Amino acid sequence: METKKRDGFNSRIGALLAIIGSAVGLGNLWRFPYVVGENGGGAFILVYLIIAFGLCTPLMMTELLIGRRGKSNVVGAFKAIDSKSKFYYSGYIFVLASFLILSFYSVVGGWVLHYLGESLTFSLSNLSSEDLTLHFKNLVSAPVRPLLLHFLFMFLTASVVIFGIEKGIEKMSKIFMPILFIFIVVLAIRSLTLPGAGQGLNFLFNIDFSKITMNTVFEALGQSFFSLSLGIGCIITYGSYMRSEENIMKSSIVVVSSDILFALIAGLAIIPAVFAFNFEPAAGPGLVFIVLPQIFSQIAGGSVFQIIFFFILFIAAITSSISLLETVVAYVVEELKITRRKATIYTSIIITIVGCFCALSEGALADFKLFGLNFFSLVETLASNILLPVGSIFIAIFASWVMKKEDVVEELSNYGTIKVKNLGYYFVIVKFVAPIAISFILIKYLLF
Ligand code: TRP
Repeated sequence: METKKRDGFNSRIGALLAIIGSAVGLGNLWRFPYVVGENGGGAFILVYLIIAFGLCTPLMMTELLIGRRGKSNVVGAFKAIDSKSKFYYSGYIFVLASFLILSFYSVVGGWVLHYLGESLTFSLSNLSSEDLTLHFKNLVSAPVRPLLLHFLFMFLTASVVIFGIEKGIEKMSKIFMPILFIFIVVLAIRSLTLPGAGQGLNFLFNIDFSKITMNTVFEALGQSFFSLSLGIGCIITYGSYMRSEENIMKSSIVVVSSDILFALIAGLAIIPAVFAFNFEPAAGPGLVFIVLPQIFSQIAGGSVFQIIFFFILFIAAITSSISLLETVVAYVVEELKITRRKATIYTSIIITIVGCFCALSEGALADFKLFGLNFFSLVETLASNILLPVGSIFIAIFASWVMKKEDVVEELSNYGTIKVKNLGYYFVIVKFVAPIAISFILIKYLLF
């Protein structure tokens, strides 16, 4: 077989923006605000920050280093690093999990496209909150429309992935991520200058310790893994495209900090406005779709801010869905040896079909329930609260108990060419703290 150079990120900024693009997504702008709302505001944020910095930064480093060391997809990387261990089997679960997450992610992506379209035609302006609630319910329970929107979103995702890493993913991230950043800051400033915003700030940053329960910790764990794209090898895949001269520890810190910053800014943009107009922050998945249009129609220049908001929601969503699809496609291309073009088309079609069940779960399939959850919530909960934490345990154990310590140090220090500090801390977290803490939270939550 010909030996072609493996595709990869061609610049430091491109690599960082692509990884941040994967991390920053619906998780930050759509999920974070309502999860904060449902779990008591400031207290949740405190737990979230501790988990994100303390556990997730080392886990992010671990995924990046496994990827770059193995220079391969989520199955191949484990095989390349240690051909004897059976850890590559977890790679199959990762592929399946990416698949599942993308199937509901793309449905929400479709809703975003719908709302973007409506804000461009100004058809959301001046609707009452009942109208907007009905509007959202009608959309998600319609028989055909959510399917078509989901197809469109998957099609857009696939049309970037098909071009590969440098010409597809890196290029797209370099153009869109800076726009995303500028716009979200504009929105946050607008929201903070609304009268009554102070109450929202209070909700976000006032810590009521009595609100910290096992449930808060469990939700914060799931939310931080979801938001940082950790636990199913998405970051392993992106790490495999990173150049050998990049500093893995620094990059991880930059990615985690940016992701947290985005989540907080999204919280700052959304929650104060919710309070300023007397809405409930715990409004669930409909929060951004029902509450925000109402708010936008009441503020000066709101229809422009509305377009901006749904546009950035779309960018954030697609740069993340691309990373999920890439995790699957990289596996199919490298392990099953078919061309990227075919792999992208086939996997997108299969994911689109599975996603149909999610798209219809509020409508035609609303009566299908397991554990009281419809298909959509079932997949969402299973993926973020179970698969991601379990996956992270496997990844942490692989890097600290299976891989040789010298190899890990070599990869983090770029073969001794850069100085890395605090490696002792890193090893303690990955070897002991992460597997034990995550298992504890899971077991305690699931069994008690
Ligand atoms: N992190 C993204 C978000 O916040 C979603 C995402 C992309 C993801 N890749 C992932 C979540 C891998 C879990 C695992 O929206």
